[in-house]
Amino acid sequence: MDASGLPGRRELPIHRPLMTSPAAAEPILKTSHLLGIEGLSVEEITGLLDLAERYVALNRGASKKIDLLKGRTLINLFFESSTRTQSSFELAGKRLSADVMNMSVKSSSVSKGETLVDTATTLNAMRPDMLVVRHQDSGAAELLSHKLDCCVVNAGDGSHEHPTQALLDALTIRRRRGGFEGLIVAICGDVLHSRVARSNIHLLLMMGARVRLVAPRTLLPADADRFGVEIFHDMEKGLAGVDIVMMLRLQLERMSGAFIPSTREYFRFYGLDHQKLKVAKPGALVMHPGPMNRGVEIDSAVADDIEISVIQEQVEMGVATRMAVLDALSRGLATEGRPARVARKGEGAP
Ligand code: NCD
Repeated sequence: MDASGLPGRRELPIHRPLMTSPAAAEPILKTSHLLGIEGLSVEEITGLLDLAERYVALNRGASKKIDLLKGRTLINLFFESSTRTQSSFELAGKRLSADVMNMSVKSSSVSKGETLVDTATTLNAMRPDMLVVRHQDSGAAELLSHKLDCCVVNAGDGSHEHPTQALLDALTIRRRRGGFEGLIVAICGDVLHSRVARSNIHLLLMMGARVRLVAPRTLLPADADRFGVEIFHDMEKGLAGVDIVMMLRLQLERMSGAFIPSTREYFRFYGLDHQKLKVAKPGALVMHPGPMNRGVEIDSAVADDIEISVIQEQVEMGVATRMAVLDALSRGLATEGRPARVARKGEGAP
C-alpha cells in the first residue's frame, strides 16, 4: 500500500506541469473535432493521456491556470442535465484561460421550439472557438460538427459515445496499473443505454485490454458479441479474476417499459457489493462514471471503500483529461481570424 492509502499503485514517473503554453506544440489529434473514441488511433489516445498527465500535475499545484486559450471562447451546450461533465469542462476551459459560456437547454430557445441546428448556428455566429455539446440523440455532435466552424467536442450523445469519459477512465487505469495490456475489465450493468460503455469498449480493446460485459439479457445490445468482448449474465462468473470492475448507472430515463423487474431485485443480482467482489482479483479496482444510484447498481460500502474505489479519482482525472482535449484541439485552430460563415439556403433546417 502506498501513501495515498490505496493498494496496487505503481511508482509513477514525475510529470512536469505545464507552466506556460508550449511554443510550437506538436499536433496530437488528426481531426479538428472529438466526436468519439471510434476512429481514434492508439497514438492519438496515448498522446492525449500523456498530455493529461501533465495537467494532473498542474492541477495539483497552487496555481492552476495557464494562458494557453487566452482570447478563445468555449461554449458548453448541454441539452441533458450534468454535474460532473459540465463543471469539469467549465473548469478545464477556465484553467486554460478561455472565456467559457455555459448554456443549458432550460434557458435556451430550444424550449421554445428552436431546432438543434438553429441553436447551434446562432451560437456559431457569436464565433466560438470550441463547442462542447451533450445531447439526448446519438449523432447530434457529429451533425453539429458539419454545420459549425469551430471545434466540436462530444460530451455524450444519446447512447452512442462519451469520449472524454473513456479517456478519463483510461487515465485513471493507466496511473493505477501502468498500462492496459492483458488487463481484464468487466463493464457491468446497463450496457444497452450506455454511451460510457461504448466508448470504453472501443478504447480498452484498442489499447490491449480484455473486456467483459456483465448484464442481464435485457440490458445488452442484441449485437453485443460483435464488439469482440466476452459476455456474461451472471456477476459471479463475470467478475471472476478481473482487474477492474466498471459499474454503470441504470439509465432509467432512457427506458421505456420494463427492462428489469424491480430495482431491489436488480441490486440482488447485479448490484456490486463486497460479497460479489470476492471473486475478482485481490485489489481489483472499482470504477463508476457517476452519478451513482446507491443501493441499485452499487452498494455504498463498496463505493466509499477507499481501498478499492477510484470513483473520486475519476472525477479528478476528468478535469485534466478535458484540459488535454481542449489543448490538443486548439493546436488545429487558426491563429488568424476567420471569415464569417455565410448561411446557405436550407442550412437552418435539421
Ligand atoms: C454518464 C453520462 O452522462 O453518460 N455520466 C457522466 O458523464 N459522468 C453516465 C450516466 O449518466 O450514467
